[in-house]
Order: sequence, then structure tokens, then C-alpha cells
Amino acid sequence: MNSEFTKENNETSLIFAKPSINEFKSIINDIATNPNVLSLKNRVQHKNKSRYYHCLCVSFYTYAICKKLKLDYVSAARGAMLHDFYYYDWRDKKVEGQKKFHAFRHPRIALNNAKELFELNELEQDIIVKHMWPLTLKLPAHRESYIVTLVDKYCASREIIRLLRKKIKFL
Ligand SMILES: [Fe+2]
Ligand SMILES: [Fe+2]
Repeated sequence: MNSEFTKENNETSLIFAKPSINEFKSIINDIATNPNVLSLKNRVQHKNKSRYYHCLCVSFYTYAICKKLKLDYVSAARGAMLHDFYYYDWRDKKVEGQKKFHAFRHPRIALNNAKELFELNELEQDIIVKHMWPLTLKLPAHRESYIVTLVDKYCASREIIRLLRKKIKFL
């Protein structure tokens, strides 16, 4: 999808720089309601959270940060929503190498899956394929892609910390 983002420097752009849930929903609506993407609700990402929830979390924070920084928040939110668009269970020990190589290969798998269903611009593709940087050696080509790498790690850490807290409470 071509982004309709335009850089504005006038006063009104400051008002519209405020993130809004409704705007966020309209940006990712076709992706978030696609049946294949919805199937990620049944895929566990970090034990207690689905992959869908994780992608939504990364996408929303990315949208809010990029909007504040006057970057291309439309493409950034869309790319972020698709950054972990793979269907398999990376913990599945029955599949040889699944867990071991997952971190390196799932960005490319996610990109291929996303390309089958959506028209992606260059920024959206860069976000998906580089989101595991610095594990994926090639440097992200855009500021928005760097933001996704950071937000992804932040959301993943938050999901894991919540899980640990629950476990500790249980003990
Ligand atoms: Fe990932
Ligand atoms: Fe992720």
C-alpha cells in the first residue's frame, strides 16, 4: 500500500501529531481483519500472549512514536503489524532447527507471507525483513525500521516480564 503520509510543518500538523486509536485502526484495518492475520490469535508468541496481540502492540507503539516524530507512521504501523507474520510454532522441537534458526529466518518468511496477501511498499518491506536487527546483519534502511526493532524488543520484554511476575506471584 502506498503511504498517504506527507510531511507537514504548519501549526495544524502539531494537533494532528497526537496519536488516535481510531486513526490507528483505520490504518491497519485491512491487515488486522484479514483471516490469515487473525489466525495469529491462535499462535502463542510469548507463552501467555498471542502473536496477533504482540504484532498489534508493536504496531500501535510504532504508530504513536512515528507520528510524534513526524515520520511515515502509516507505513510504519502497517509494516509493524506484519513483522511476525509466520504461522508455525517456533518452539516446536519436532521440526529440526526450528528453534535454533527461527530468529534468523522468520523475518524473510514473514515478508513472503505478507507479500502474498498485501501490496507492500519499500519501507514496509524493510521493516518486516530487518526487524530482528542486529541479528539480521543488513542495516535497516529507514528510521522507522529502527523504531520497529526497538519497539519489538520492548513489547517482547514486557510480555516476558508480565509472565515472570505471574509466575513469581504463583510461587
Ligand atoms: Fe520477530
Ligand atoms: Fe516481534
